[in-house]
Amino acid sequence: MHLPHNHPVALSDYTPPDYRVESVHLTVDLHDDVTLVRADLSVVANHDRTKGIRPLVLDGRGLVLRCIALDGKPLTTDEYVRDDETLTIHHVPEQCTVSVSTELKPQENTLLEGLYRSGGTFCTQCEAEGFRRITYFPDRPDVLAAYTVTITADRATCPVLLANGNLAASGDLPDGRHYATWHDPFPKPSYLFALVAGDLVKVEDTFVTKSGRRVALQIYVQSHNRDKCDHAVRSLAEAMRWDEEAFGREYDLDLYMIVAVDDFNFGAMENKGLNVFNSRYVLARPDTATDADYAAIEGVIGHEYFHNWSGNRVTCRDWFQLSVKEGLTIFRDQEFSAAMGSSAVKRIQDVRYLRTHQFPEDAGPLAHPVRPETYDAINNLYTATVYNKGAELIRMLRTLVGHDAFRRGMDLYFDRHDGTGATVENLVSALAEASGRDLTQFMRWYREAGTPEIHVTGSHDADTKAYTLTIRQGVAGGEPLLIPLAMGLLDRNGNELSVHLDGEQAPLEPGRALELSRQEETFCFRGIPEEPVPSLFRGFSAPVRLHYAYTEADLALLMGKDGDLFNRWEAGQRLMTGTILQLVADRRAGQELRLPPALVEACGTLLTSGGNDRAFLAEALTLPSENLLGEQMKEIEVEGIFEARRFVRTALARQLRGELSALWDQCRPTGPYRFEPAETGRRSLAACCLGYLMTLDDPSIRQACLRQFREADNMTDSLSALTLLAHTEGSEGETALAEFHARWREEPLVIDKWFAIQATSPLPDTFARVQRLLEHPDFTLANPNRARSLILSFAVNNPVRFHDRAGGGYRLLADHVIKLNSLNPMIGARMAEPLTRWRRHELNRRERMKTELERIAREPTLARDIRDVVTKGLA
Ligand code: PHE
Ligand code: ZN
Repeated sequence: MHLPHNHPVALSDYTPPDYRVESVHLTVDLHDDVTLVRADLSVVANHDRTKGIRPLVLDGRGLVLRCIALDGKPLTTDEYVRDDETLTIHHVPEQCTVSVSTELKPQENTLLEGLYRSGGTFCTQCEAEGFRRITYFPDRPDVLAAYTVTITADRATCPVLLANGNLAASGDLPDGRHYATWHDPFPKPSYLFALVAGDLVKVEDTFVTKSGRRVALQIYVQSHNRDKCDHAVRSLAEAMRWDEEAFGREYDLDLYMIVAVDDFNFGAMENKGLNVFNSRYVLARPDTATDADYAAIEGVIGHEYFHNWSGNRVTCRDWFQLSVKEGLTIFRDQEFSAAMGSSAVKRIQDVRYLRTHQFPEDAGPLAHPVRPETYDAINNLYTATVYNKGAELIRMLRTLVGHDAFRRGMDLYFDRHDGTGATVENLVSALAEASGRDLTQFMRWYREAGTPEIHVTGSHDADTKAYTLTIRQGVAGGEPLLIPLAMGLLDRNGNELSVHLDGEQAPLEPGRALELSRQEETFCFRGIPEEPVPSLFRGFSAPVRLHYAYTEADLALLMGKDGDLFNRWEAGQRLMTGTILQLVADRRAGQELRLPPALVEACGTLLTSGGNDRAFLAEALTLPSENLLGEQMKEIEVEGIFEARRFVRTALARQLRGELSALWDQCRPTGPYRFEPAETGRRSLAACCLGYLMTLDDPSIRQACLRQFREADNMTDSLSALTLLAHTEGSEGETALAEFHARWREEPLVIDKWFAIQATSPLPDTFARVQRLLEHPDFTLANPNRARSLILSFAVNNPVRFHDRAGGGYRLLADHVIKLNSLNPMIGARMAEPLTRWRRHELNRRERMKTELERIAREPTLARDIRDVVTKGLA
């Protein structure tokens, strides 16, 4: 008999597991050829057996089964049923031990899921459903067990043997082998299991928790990376301290281990006590990693650490609830990073990320709610919507209930659900209880896909000195959302007016948001002497698209004077977007392009009197990307956007050359590299100024850029110069690229940058170059970082070259999706995503993109991850 595997999986089908697993004993014998895994599971029935005994169904994929026993007695083949995805035992007692032995070949595992080898190191990746590739198991997050793991391996090639928890025993074995036994006392779901074995060195520190417990912090890397761990260790200690202060969360084991591997599908994994990281989120030295890399490491180290509470101690009941760990943990890491640097700049970057990645997802064929109701391929649920929109929902909840109640609600949530899997309802209920608020209406945010459109108009009555805002929410499905609207009103000199709602005793306290809960509503403010300029959705208080008819003068005022830094940036972006889109229309109409004085003036003001927050200034001076501009158009005009944006950039540089040079000069380095806010701000403003100046086609500026590339003591300055040179006509680019490759050929993370720079060049020969680079000896599709650095960078971050009208970019992408179908479908599915955006383009491109999707769909055996994306993309 074959059991059906129901796809799609539906939230409404959720039932508690029929059997629990109380403890797991794993023995893993690692060998170069065949690895043996023995699992002893103490299984307990979890259903009412008087109403019939249910079968025990274990998940398993791609496993070679050696033998299976029940309470020590081997089962004959007629006592269980096996198919591609399950093993079913029909008659099991109320309580029993199931012992399973399986064989694996990790060295042949290219999926990077389950047990695999990366650069010789054995490692595991179990989220979401990798554990079933190691042994048969009820592989679902609501089955939590205590694990004891014994690893045996050759001592010479695998001196380091790690698993979750604490080391219980270790020692020698015959034939040059050795073993280690690890015990993790905290019950956990199988997706948090981890094992690592290899020839690694350890970089160590200690952390004393707020209650005085000593925790060993250990980072394991290949020996040549020993000198690139300082920043990761420091970030970990800072994250631990921050979580104690901001959330009252303390670490719970005596040991916290992080292992860096080069081959990893995503960013990192929060396995209990033993995180496995993509090496790009661990390794950093001033000369190999940029400020952005340093910041990303800090953020991801924090993220995985914060999961220890929001994810591990309290996990998710089922994968539909993924956002209770991911949305919450992204929110926590955003707050952490904000506390480590400039919080306004962090907010700007997070919102830019959301708009670049989540808004388009939410507007296209892959759109889904933060808590989806069905899924086909679980790996495709790790999305910007679940993660980043999920984080925005938590942020809105905090705004609605207030910071104090939020903290009490989080305490309640962690306390109440410790050691179990939680749901979105559990999380929202805890916040509702702690604040005494009814948050029923808020739940709609979790159920509904799509970005709400908010239309706002204002009217001022000079006689009554009343100002009225009329706000309409356009949401799919009709029912209104509960939306926090943080706002302020500015007078014509840019002074903040006191915001006093009609009918209320006192003015709105600063930091309090208005709440929108109806389809349309009005807010009336009194004592407003003149028509004000509203500053709306301050700090991006809700993930919506705001429609308000700002004039250029309004925007210039907000840009210069708004008390909310986020909205100062936002006003500038609106001004730039409006200008560029107008130029796209002018170009279409065959008119000559001319830069409006308002933008020059606004940027000039920023350059000369924009204040001393350099990181903020750099953000404010940066034009919206081609992708973000495309987002604003009904039908994306790829060339129009590229040309108009380039025109604005060059024209601004011409007209503000003196100011840009002066500011660039003020931003020269004064000492050796340090990763700290003032310095990263200085470097990013310098790069921004140099970027404008490099559009001027001036050989002396190109020479200065080449000198910076060669002489910088750090990767940030060197790489910004290299990128500009490589993206500009002139021989310097080629020279610099060659020097860079020669210098860094032994550093894979740096070589990734070398590929990405070339893939994102706007120069006309880029497509041909990408084709050549695919044949470069350093290129491999088997390493996700490398595959992304060349192919995805090209497809996602180089619109004008990827969307070449001849369709070569699309064909190239589809070819690689097909290659990844057998090699690594998880990465293949991600690579197919850009093609699903075909509806946004003009007819010719639309047809060509669709044709490539159809070609992928015709592949005879398409992996589920890829089929899911392609099917939705064509539907
Ligand atoms: N849970 C990981 C994180 O967000 C992401 C991840 C998912 C990594 C699946 C690998 C595989 O921290
Ligand atoms: Zn996460």
